[in-house]
Amino acid sequence: MYYFRKVTDDLYWVGGNDRRLELFENLFPIPNGVSYNSYLLMDEKTVLFDTVDTSIGRQFLENIEAVLDGRSLDYLVINHMEPDHCSLIDELVIRHPDMKIIGNAKTFPMIGQFYDLDLEGKTVTVKEGETFSSGKHTLHFVMAPMVHWPEVMMTYDETDKVLFSADAFGTFGAMNGTIFNDEIDFDRDWLDDARRYYTNIVGKYGVQVQNVLKKASALDIQYICPLHGPVWRSNLAYLLEKYNTWSTYKPEMQGVMIAYASMYGNTENAVNVLAVKLADAGVKEIKMHDISRTHVSQLISDSFKYSHLVLAAPTYNGGIYPVMANYLDDMKALSVQGRTVAVLGNGSWAPMSAKQMEAKISEMKNMTLLTDNFAVKSALKGTQMSELDALVEKLVESIL
Ligand code: FEO
Repeated sequence: MYYFRKVTDDLYWVGGNDRRLELFENLFPIPNGVSYNSYLLMDEKTVLFDTVDTSIGRQFLENIEAVLDGRSLDYLVINHMEPDHCSLIDELVIRHPDMKIIGNAKTFPMIGQFYDLDLEGKTVTVKEGETFSSGKHTLHFVMAPMVHWPEVMMTYDETDKVLFSADAFGTFGAMNGTIFNDEIDFDRDWLDDARRYYTNIVGKYGVQVQNVLKKASALDIQYICPLHGPVWRSNLAYLLEKYNTWSTYKPEMQGVMIAYASMYGNTENAVNVLAVKLADAGVKEIKMHDISRTHVSQLISDSFKYSHLVLAAPTYNGGIYPVMANYLDDMKALSVQGRTVAVLGNGSWAPMSAKQMEAKISEMKNMTLLTDNFAVKSALKGTQMSELDALVEKLVESIL
């Protein structure tokens, strides 16, 4: 049975949810599931904005046929060609042979890469700022290259002031019938997933997100319709401000994330001693992760969230303990920058991890390092307490 929701008088959400998928992109755990959004505009011409992932394909097809109610689909706008949104194009081409596909110069070669479709005479190529009339509605195309793929564009419906924003402003999380931001407690229930989604999927492309935010600021937007997560129809400034903060790599929280790896509990003990001293000194915002038990996407999310990072790990095979090395590589790949960082190493005969972790931090942009090869030898002892106290003092002074 179909389901859909009305967004405006003429626009319908016809997407769906996947609560079975363990790993988004076969990489990111999504305990709360994910939604794949698609929107259908019922104007003089019918226009669908993006399709969905194959996992919900049958539901999606049922939804759009129900809204079309016997009409044919005239146009499909492709804002993004990643397979979680484009997997039903071929099915729609078969079901609606007169349908035309609207995309940009980078869209169509990508369709050819993924699918074997004869689209001769069925394509409409649009450029930045061009418009298309579906009757009552005028659609205006805004290119958004590398947010986070090269062919990404957004479509703005000038008539109802709706921005179809592709992956931007999206989030992990399946929707519970309530698809609008004013039907949910976003800050309580969604913000962590939204941050983890943004920072891991789009985080590297802050400059490109800033470019799009500048273009968006020239538009009068009343609705934001992303490809994942809730539709925004109020309090847009809240979401835009979050995106501005994340894409400029500014911390949301003046506080510290302590990310440690510990083989037998000795490195863990050192950061527990440090955390207690920080708390004694009045630091309240302290988040601690055992990184062997925390997915790296959560570590990246909190690296964007907190102003200060304490990273602690033992030496392993003469280098950095593997999960810490992986996290540091991901930080660099996702352009984490502008944080104040302290590093604690450990090693029983040739402690190397602190130096090597500091070297990796130094390769990132605008990082401030508070340590210089602070290495515990097997376990923290009283002889190193003055060194630890000096580090606590530096952290406290910088955080508070
Ligand atoms: Fe949700 Fe870039 O795909």
